[in-house]
Amino acid sequence: AHAALAPQDLAGLTVAVSAGGTREPIDPVRFLGNRSSGRQGVALAAAAAARGADVVLVAAHIEQDVLADARHPGIRVERVETAAELADAMRAVAPDADVIVMAAAVADYRPAEAAAQKLTKEDGVLARIDLVENEDVVAGLAANRPGEQTIVAFAAETLADPDQRRERARRKRERKGVDLLAVNRADAAHGFERADNAIEIIGDGGEVVAERSGSKAEVADAIWDAVLVYRAE
Ligand code: CTP
Ligand code: CA
Repeated sequence: AHAALAPQDLAGLTVAVSAGGTREPIDPVRFLGNRSSGRQGVALAAAAAARGADVVLVAAHIEQDVLADARHPGIRVERVETAAELADAMRAVAPDADVIVMAAAVADYRPAEAAAQKLTKEDGVLARIDLVENEDVVAGLAANRPGEQTIVAFAAETLADPDQRRERARRKRERKGVDLLAVNRADAAHGFERADNAIEIIGDGGEVVAERSGSKAEVADAIWDAVLVYRAE
């Protein structure tokens, strides 16, 4: 929908969206990364701005052509590289946010040390890289949240069986302490590296409160709809 035609049902809300995938440096030329394009997060930011929200988009390594869809006077973009930078950026914006949506693919681990010089085969250290766990950003935000703040996390699950997938998603939502968990199918036919997406949204009773498959813009609107329903309850 054209921005001017969108309902202004998010007007007055400040929302923070994280998107993209973090990159954890191994040395000056290598990193640990993931396949997130940032498209779903950018679509969430664009949909929120079109619906009247003030948006901060914390963008972890998103290609310029993807980020172009977030050009809107209501969207401020902050670029980050690593999980630690993303955590700092989200902590900085969280106190003012009515809604947080964590769509970024955050690296679970990072190299214990980022080498200052390029590692070589000669050094014999490239075959084994020691990793340390990154903090769970969204769990930290949820544990320290101001009242009335709604937090949505994402989960990319490759389990094909819907019951197993939902069960894992329920555990994940509780573990993270978030209100809503949007589960997307990260398999060949859905989600990653595709224009289209398919999600289920798990609510705070563990039930599926909404599901939508379609364009990333349609999925984004379904998530904001679910947020508004949740906040009205
Ligand atoms: N997330 C986060 N910080 C991390 C890892 C993940 O904030 N260090 C957030 C993601 O942005 C997402 C949600 O947590 O919104 C779920 O991410 P996911 O990778 O599915 O969950 P994990 O707890 O990392 O579990 P898994 O072992 O399945 O990867
Ligand atoms: Ca993970």
